[in-house]
Amino acid sequence: MALARRGARLALVGRRREALEGVAAEVAALGAEATVFPTDLTVSEQRLGLAERIHAAIGPLDWLVNNAGMLAGGPFANHSPSTIESALSINLTAPAVLVQQFLPDLVERKGTMVLVGSLMSFVPLPGATLYSASKSGLRAFGQALRYELQPSGVHVLMVHPAGTATAMIAPMARKAPVRAPLLDPQWVGEQTVRAALARRFEVQWGLGDRLLRLLYRAAPSLVQRVLAHQHATLMHLFDERDIS
Ligand SMILES: NC(=O)c1ccc[n+]([C@@H]2O[C@H](COP(=O)([O-])OP(=O)(O)OC[C@H]3O[C@@H](n4cnc5c(N)ncnc54)[C@H](OP(=O)(O)O)[C@@H]3O)[C@@H](O)[C@H]2O)c1
Repeated sequence: MALARRGARLALVGRRREALEGVAAEVAALGAEATVFPTDLTVSEQRLGLAERIHAAIGPLDWLVNNAGMLAGGPFANHSPSTIESALSINLTAPAVLVQQFLPDLVERKGTMVLVGSLMSFVPLPGATLYSASKSGLRAFGQALRYELQPSGVHVLMVHPAGTATAMIAPMARKAPVRAPLLDPQWVGEQTVRAALARRFEVQWGLGDRLLRLLYRAAPSLVQRVLAHQHATLMHLFDERDIS
């Protein structure tokens, strides 16, 4: 919506056509235009045809926002091989493949790409093994890519929102022992666009998350001891089989 409010012409990608059409209607209500591209980004054939479809419908991109992701919470031992594949694919492989597909557009137009990380890009947590692995990998990918693309004028922004009121976090928010305030997704979107326009490289929102990142960097063994103490709580919090 933050891009729609600035008059951008949008290509919306996700698996559910109805959900995309709902967002497109909101974009239209703001006076901007959006075209929907229902795609499962974990399926390589669908992913690979995306640039061609988007180019045919709306032309080259100035911005690429890699927002799609999944948590895949719960004990690692219980994950099926397909969950392992999907989580690593949507959180890490898909952004890399999409960046490569749209890189010629971004280089030609000195464009902007956004990667969405998390607290777990910095601090790995029990119960969120695949998310921690893929989001920290995404951060390393973004940093290396930023250095690589510096001469091209393509801007790479990585954002790390704290808990944000979306479908992903709703089950956890209901189970959390302490009701922590969540960020508003519209606010996160607006701050992301502002950070990109200000040519910032990396932004993390949420005081608690920022303190934990700094503490983990300064004293990782202390944080690991605290996490060991909170093991059962975290495993329960992230367990997607148990959303009571
Ligand atoms: N919410 C938080 O507290 C929080 C905090 C830090 C970072 N993040 C990150 O923010 C980003 C957005 O998360 P969210 O909270 O908005 O989660 P969400 O409510 O679960 O939304 C996930 C989005 O990704 C799309 N998606 C998921 N799997 C896909 C697939 N295989 N192919 C194509 N699209 C797919 C979904 O659309 P379909 O279901 O229609 O495919 C949906 O639009 C993620 O990268 C997440 O890791 C979230």
